[in-house]
Amino acid sequence: MKYFIANWKANKNLNEAVQWIDKFLTLPLRSDSAKVVVCPPYPLIFPLKEKIKNTKNIYLGVQDISSFEFGSYTGEVSAKTLQGLVEYVIIGHSERRKYFNENTQTLFKKTQLAKTYGIEPILCIRDEKDAIPDRVQIVAYEPVYAIGTGNNESVKKVLEMKQKLNLPIPYSFIYGGSVNKDNASSYLDSSEIDGFLVGGTSLDPTEFFKIIKLG
Ligand code: PGA
Repeated sequence: MKYFIANWKANKNLNEAVQWIDKFLTLPLRSDSAKVVVCPPYPLIFPLKEKIKNTKNIYLGVQDISSFEFGSYTGEVSAKTLQGLVEYVIIGHSERRKYFNENTQTLFKKTQLAKTYGIEPILCIRDEKDAIPDRVQIVAYEPVYAIGTGNNESVKKVLEMKQKLNLPIPYSFIYGGSVNKDNASSYLDSSEIDGFLVGGTSLDPTEFFKIIKLG
């Protein structure tokens, strides 16, 4: 079973999200080999949830959560609020580290809160120097120079990174950075790589599906 995680980032409005999912649901997804996780901006979660309620193997995730549990934190979206709405949360994406100054301590708190509220963290790391909190079961290796540039990292280098991480518990190791239908098979051929975090290519349901079909 491979993960195919769509990270829409700050893209799409309500109409575009509905069009995306309506199209995606017409495509013949094989539920035994792919676990699809769609991570839209927060306001689009609920309309997508309604659309997928009778489908198998399509899950929802968010791209971040608050490091506060709940309370007087204007503008924050907490794990408590998200409980029951999403199954996954991306934590520590390099864009959050860069533009929102997220540090290790914040990311550890977010991971802990996600776990407390039954939301599975997808922890992004840029390299082996980024700390991985205990209990994380999905690690996404996303080298910064590969994100949105068309310069995907070679499978060899991705596997070398996995070796360096040397994580003690069973975990899923996924790759992200300029994944598309032309380069996806080489990673999928490796039993050591458990799927993808896909940005740009996931914005088009047909292109995203072309990657999934290779799995
Ligand atoms: P990309 O983004 O597929 O557009 O390179 C990946 C990511 O940032 O998660």
